[in-house]
Amino acid sequence: MSHGPATDVRVRRALRSDLDALAELEQAFPGDRMARSSFARLLARDSAEVWVAELGGQVVGDAVVLFRRGFDSARLYSMVVDQRFRGRGIARSLLEAAEEGARERGVVVMRLEVREENAPALALYRRAGYVVVGRADDYYQDHAAALRLRKRFVKGGATVRGVPFHPQSFSFTSGSACLMMAMRHHGYPVPLDRWLELALWREATTTFTRKGDGGLSAHGLAVAASRRGFQSRVVTPDAGVPFDGVLQGEAREVARISHAGFERELRGLGGKVEVRAFDHQDAADAVERGAVPLVLLAGFDPEREHPEQPGRWLVVTGFDADHLYLHDPLVAEGEARADNVHLAMKKEAFDRACRHPEAAQRAMVLVERWGSVSRRQPDDG
Ligand SMILES: CC(C)(COP(=O)(O)OP(=O)(O)OC[C@H]1O[C@@H](n2cnc3c(N)ncnc32)[C@H](O)[C@@H]1OP(=O)(O)O)[C@@H](O)C(=O)NCCC(=O)NCCS
Repeated sequence: MSHGPATDVRVRRALRSDLDALAELEQAFPGDRMARSSFARLLARDSAEVWVAELGGQVVGDAVVLFRRGFDSARLYSMVVDQRFRGRGIARSLLEAAEEGARERGVVVMRLEVREENAPALALYRRAGYVVVGRADDYYQDHAAALRLRKRFVKGGATVRGVPFHPQSFSFTSGSACLMMAMRHHGYPVPLDRWLELALWREATTTFTRKGDGGLSAHGLAVAASRRGFQSRVVTPDAGVPFDGVLQGEAREVARISHAGFERELRGLGGKVEVRAFDHQDAADAVERGAVPLVLLAGFDPEREHPEQPGRWLVVTGFDADHLYLHDPLVAEGEARADNVHLAMKKEAFDRACRHPEAAQRAMVLVERWGSVSRRQPDDG
């Protein structure tokens, strides 16, 4: 198939007055359709851009791009062209406008998912420079598989590992969710369910505190990993007991005893602790070596941050010349998992977030590999 450029098509940002047309167009979408109210929400959001293509004053196609504040990556969430006007380059024009809008915001990488059997859409994206980087089984409501595609807008490559994503299912379990992603990446064969999420949190927690993941500590995470046969390493500039400054009485005593116990057990299991400052380069080097870095970041996402619990754990999945790529286990209401994967964060922003003065801890846990002999075998189901 070959089309000339669609010169009579005008692509512009959508307005509220387009809502009816957008809802109507959605009827042509295969599977999971967006409601009029969803479009209304998207139009009101600063973190979304909705584009429409007009032909003779009539809206005949749309494209939706989602952004995350603080990150230089975006997701092409949806694109559809009225059946009657397909095959004349309208999607191509929409895609170009959507990409241009994203680049204006400083976006360096656009991601999208598409049904594996959607040949026209796949051809469109491939032709526009997208490459398939993965596949997700059972992705859509009707259980169809999705292909994951990515396009980089900047020169130079990126190293991005296919770390599987796992969302946290409690407000305080970002650390466990991150460890589970690392474990699965290294081939851990048990289901990533809520029991494991809680079990890891219980094992890794010093004493319950509202600070930083309910008291979960980097050393505790490394111990939970080591008990399951993972080689792990803690890098932290702080030699003291985490949360010590914010705890009192018995809670402080429990935290001190737990921390000392974690240090002892970690050494016994062959884990390492490096007391030194770290930055994006350490995380990138670890990814390069095949390790999965888990890192506590704070101050990068003020909208979602719990004031009493500054910071949460994220997984570093890759890097390029200017960015680190991260999985964020905290999926906000109304977001899909896909909005939280391989988010591009500027290296300077990463360094600020891992040294944030409010953070409960400044630490990185490197989950290096799986397969060393485990002395204890917790029952993960
Ligand atoms: C996918 C879709 C948006 C394409 O819209 P379109 O306006 O017809 O596409 P264009 O005319 O701009 O075509 C651009 C490129 O897409 C590819 N393409 C589009 N339709 C195709 C088809 N039926 N078969 C193969 N390739 C096709 C071609 O590579 C084409 O480039 P070319 O014309 O230079 O060969 C449209 O088919 C649609 O709305 N499908 C239903 C919704 C959907 O699947 N959305 C995408 C998933 S998010």
